[in-house]
Amino acid sequence: MNWQTIDWHALDRLRQSYLTGSAGGADYWRSHSDLDSYNQTFAQRIGWKWDYVLEELQSLGWTPPVSEVLDWGCGSGVAGRAFLDHYGTESVTGLRVWDRSRLAMDFAVKTARKKYAALNVQSGLTETPGILLLSHVLTELKPEQIDELANYVAKAEVVIWVEPGTYEASLTLIAVRERLRTQFSRVAPCPHAEQCGILAPGNERDWCHHFASPPSAIFTDPDWGKFAHMMGIDLRSLPLSYLVLDKRPRPALPPDTYRVIGRPRIYKAYALIQGCNACGVKNYQLSKRDFPAEFKLAKKDKSPSLQRWETEEDQITAIHSESPDEAGEE
Ligand SMILES: C[S@@+](CC[C@H](N)C(=O)[O-])C[C@H]1O[C@@H](n2cnc3c(N)ncnc32)[C@H](O)[C@@H]1O
Repeated sequence: MNWQTIDWHALDRLRQSYLTGSAGGADYWRSHSDLDSYNQTFAQRIGWKWDYVLEELQSLGWTPPVSEVLDWGCGSGVAGRAFLDHYGTESVTGLRVWDRSRLAMDFAVKTARKKYAALNVQSGLTETPGILLLSHVLTELKPEQIDELANYVAKAEVVIWVEPGTYEASLTLIAVRERLRTQFSRVAPCPHAEQCGILAPGNERDWCHHFASPPSAIFTDPDWGKFAHMMGIDLRSLPLSYLVLDKRPRPALPPDTYRVIGRPRIYKAYALIQGCNACGVKNYQLSKRDFPAEFKLAKKDKSPSLQRWETEEDQITAIHSESPDEAGEE
């Protein structure tokens, strides 16, 4: 990080275009310095979301195929770098970046070549993507562009798609999932391959979202403090929605596996946790008396994202501690 080089006016302009929804209208990258300022700030926060998703995938025992990575709508290229930092350059055949902005592609290529000297890095699209990464692109695309993009996504072998955890982004991602779910195996966040439970009647106000954690050091860092203040951002909150699909067959998770959605709501005697499994999305009560350790975790917002429960009506009656991956059947 070099906070001296940050162009705060450029960040303010970017922030305004994201907030007002005008970012999709035209290419907003004006200079290398715009991308550098974005890369050191907004993109860092997006990188922490990617770290969260990649760690989730690790806990599922999922690994990508050895293939080329394509970072679509790359911006400064944070998604590709997060992926490579997690799996290592030897796990891929190369990195490709694509953006409507030539400046963005050049920045992403240059930054990746500098960081991964031995890696084949290029810009441009490919007919059939191997590992397709998409990050924070939905809010800039019109419905017909999303439609076209979903057709392209269908050609990939693996898709990892991370978006802000807003209602709109989640519902759009869910629509993409519904469209593609018979063509791919589900990897995450869905613990099942059925229709998304968020779409069931009664769940109209819900959306599928999760929270990543930023490194704690940023909370005492005056520069991050300045960034938060100037951009009107709460540094603690990193909501995200994501979707990971794979053409390769995946073992089914045990049917008692639940994905925890959002944050638990804490009451005096219980925590209310929204859980998703093949039967749908529902709020379950976790009793403080029966599950003191798990209640404590819920209170600290540290509950595991994937859990195995026995339930009766809306009560959690047992929690199995082995990970769903260990319990998975071929
Ligand atoms: C909010 S930025 C996200 C950048 C990067 N993926 C990240 O996560 O930091 C959205 C990016 O999508 C690009 N973009 C917008 N519309 C696009 C389109 N139709 N085709 C390709 N890229 C597009 C923008 O130029 C911008 O770089």
